[in-house]
Amino acid sequence: MLFPYLFATFLAIAALAVAETSSATAARTASLSAIGIGVTNMTESTKFYTEMFGMKYTGQLIRTPLFDEMILTYPTPSTGSALVLMEWKNKKSVKDLPIKLVFYVEDVKQNIEKLRKAGMKITLEPGTGKIGNTTLPTAFASDPDGYVLEVNPISMLGRSLGS
Ligand SMILES: *[C@@H]1O[C@H](CO)[C@@H](O)[C@H](O)[C@H]1NC(C)=O
Ligand SMILES: *[C@@H]1O[C@H](CO)[C@@H](O)[C@H](O)[C@H]1NC(C)=O
Repeated sequence: MLFPYLFATFLAIAALAVAETSSATAARTASLSAIGIGVTNMTESTKFYTEMFGMKYTGQLIRTPLFDEMILTYPTPSTGSALVLMEWKNKKSVKDLPIKLVFYVEDVKQNIEKLRKAGMKITLEPGTGKIGNTTLPTAFASDPDGYVLEVNPISMLGRSLGS
């Protein structure tokens, strides 16, 4: 079947392109370097993730027979996975899929206010969620297609929730 083959090829190309921009090349044996999500409009979603989360468009716009995609990253090394925004040509449903993107930001409250102003749904206000007796600074919101956005303070990066 042609489709999975093409899909794998193009994603691999995208991942390689992203990996090449990273400077940390010490003895790694494996890496998940990009996550691709289907979006209604990759231009709109690029605007969203750059304005709301400070990601940068790498300039990589890849056109394939099945979808077009734009690749975003945080440009400094060791800042997580690239985000590949895929606009499918056969109009797959990309609304309200049970998929979560987890961000770490300097100021969760400020970030959530920005999202609220942009008209995004806030599903958990910062400082209202709990795991056991521990109150979490974490917040949840939705992106323009309904993907779940988990927003944590950068100071929590590397620590597991509830521990
Ligand atoms: C995507 O959004 C851009 C910017 O708002 C708009 O110019 C473009 O027509 C949209 N594309 C589609 C396929 O709707
Ligand atoms: C959590 O709160 C409950 C109820 O106040 C208390 O009984 C329990 O000891 C607390 N657990 C911890 C680990 O603090």
